Amino acid sequence: MKVLVVGNGGREHALVRKLAQSPEADRIFCAPGNAGTQEIAENVSIPANDLPKLTRFAKENGIDLTVIGPDDPLAAGIVDLFEAEGLRVFGPNKKAARLEASKIFAKELMRAEKIPTAQARTFSSSAKALNYCDEVALPVVIKADGLALGKGVVVAHDRAGARHAVHSMMEERAFGDAGRRIIMEECLCGGECSVHALVSGKSFRMLATARDHKRSRDGDEGPNTGGMGAVSPADNWNAERESNFNSSIMQPLLDGLTRNGTMFHGLLFPGLMITDDGLRVLEFNCRFGDPETQAILPRMKSDLLPLLVATIESGLENVAIEFDPRIAVTVILASGGYPGKYETGKPIEGLENAARLPEVQIFHAGTKRQDGTTVTSGGRVLAITALGDSVPQARERAYAAIDKIHFEGCHFRRDIALRPAHT
Ligand code: AMP
Ligand code: GLY
Repeated sequence: MKVLVVGNGGREHALVRKLAQSPEADRIFCAPGNAGTQEIAENVSIPANDLPKLTRFAKENGIDLTVIGPDDPLAAGIVDLFEAEGLRVFGPNKKAARLEASKIFAKELMRAEKIPTAQARTFSSSAKALNYCDEVALPVVIKADGLALGKGVVVAHDRAGARHAVHSMMEERAFGDAGRRIIMEECLCGGECSVHALVSGKSFRMLATARDHKRSRDGDEGPNTGGMGAVSPADNWNAERESNFNSSIMQPLLDGLTRNGTMFHGLLFPGLMITDDGLRVLEFNCRFGDPETQAILPRMKSDLLPLLVATIESGLENVAIEFDPRIAVTVILASGGYPGKYETGKPIEGLENAARLPEVQIFHAGTKRQDGTTVTSGGRVLAITALGDSVPQARERAYAAIDKIHFEGCHFRRDIALRPAHT
């Protein structure tokens, strides 16, 4: 099979590496890819949001399976375009991708199916939302309806902060049309957990769980990022929670989607809060998580390629998925200043020495080749994953690899996979 992976992050490098191990994969392309994917696949210089060019490339090159990494092309309907051309593609179509692309759509569906989530109100008028800031219980969580690069969520602890968030989303349009409508919802307390499942219409199979570390600095301080590290399996998950998750979240969700004529085929990754009152859905993601994927896939023993094909075509009733029971710890190395402004073009040293360490895998994110060297080209630069029999062993291996890697301004969290104080 010829496989195309769309995207250029650490998630896509992890997908390319895993798919390249499949005996069924003959050639792998990555569009646009990074310096890491270039070593094991053929990079194609088409941006992930150039839907017509991607479709043309897949058609002209006889691609047998395209796997979409990021959320934006899914929300823009890349799957519908590929399918109209008779091309096989992994990911939900535009209608199903609304689960992630519209938080209001997701909220309404959860309400209709009685799926546990934060109590929320929806606003399409900034005046009404600003008035509500005077009476709402604090803290309050304010969310832009649409996609905002993971930055469209604000937890406001006072009324001025709430008003500021409403003003910036709805009036200043800080996230463009994503802030045309907003949600204001109760603030939930607890530990978070990312659950990944392959979904094929009415059937689904869980992959492994993971816990992401979203804040930029140790001790869960600093601004939210795309994710600064992950541990898989999540240390706050157990069989009882999984059974509740299946019966009170996944099953009603798939029933609700089917009832309104939406067939979901792809990867569904609900972000959960584990509260004292049980599981609550914070959001639905319609794609693999980043950096969760860099922790989950190195633990996966099964061949991913036939699983993705089964998700699209034959269903998941008869498939088994096997995972390595060991722990994977993934630490992100970011550019100085990320998630704010940062510089790029910094040479990266020590990658080969780090990759030689036992049970270590290095995934590239914001990197590119320039004049024969690998340089930084984004905010999140590398994801370093290590497997271990215990969290301390996996952490030790990951941080030993990080010790060998250098680039100017590099920053990372030292407390990945340690339990934050509040969980
Ligand atoms: P979302 O994009 O909806 O997952 O939100 C991003 C992050 O904001 C989540 O991972 C949580 O850390 C936080 N968050 C979202 N909704 C809530 C909520 N209702 N209560 C507390 N924190 C939340
Ligand atoms: N790490 C969170 C996400 O991929 O949305």
